[in-house]
Amino acid sequence: MTAFVLPSSVTVVDHPLVRHKMGLLRDVRTPTALFRLLARELSLLLTYEATRNLALETVEIDTPLEPMQAERLSGKKLCFVSILRAGNGILDGMLDLVPSARVGHVGLFRDPQTLRPVEYYLKLPDDLVNRDCIVVDPMLATGHSAVAAIDSVKKAGAKNVVFVCLLAAPEGVECLTQAHPDVKVVTCAVDRGLDDHGYIRPGLGDAGDRLFGTK
Ligand code: URA
Repeated sequence: MTAFVLPSSVTVVDHPLVRHKMGLLRDVRTPTALFRLLARELSLLLTYEATRNLALETVEIDTPLEPMQAERLSGKKLCFVSILRAGNGILDGMLDLVPSARVGHVGLFRDPQTLRPVEYYLKLPDDLVNRDCIVVDPMLATGHSAVAAIDSVKKAGAKNVVFVCLLAAPEGVECLTQAHPDVKVVTCAVDRGLDDHGYIRPGLGDAGDRLFGTK
């Protein structure tokens, strides 16, 4: 088996705070409320990294002491696109940081015959052409859902897309970077690989179930 080499389009946010919170998130004993809080906090830290290249412009302001040239965000606005349902678990933290962002949703289910994602819901802002897009799903496992969601977002006009997840598998990273080499991926960790049921190992279990307290 050839060793997995992390593509340059993937950023692993390996800050000590992220590593600490990921350890708690992965722990099977972590209850739903804490899991949700950790996912929200981690999404703030991921968004900080995913928005690193936002354009700035200079504006004239007055401090209480003197005029100065200050900076503010300029140019394109943002759209977050959540892959239902688990994407919503990290969406709220992202909106805390960028409350003016627009939000789109993509719903996908897995066809039991082909095992491929089938879109059952799509609602996106109609001005995606003018927005940078951040597509979010906590887990990049096989990568098929991420690829399908990004296909839809690009079809709707998005040119600049970043994918944000809490945890990735090498298989998902490979699938996504092959289908969309222009898409940057920001994640907290890349794990060993997928098991026969498509779970990331060692992973954190089913992110949707842990976020929403379902089984
Ligand atoms: N989706 C999850 O929620 N967990 C995994 O490990 C893989 C996909």
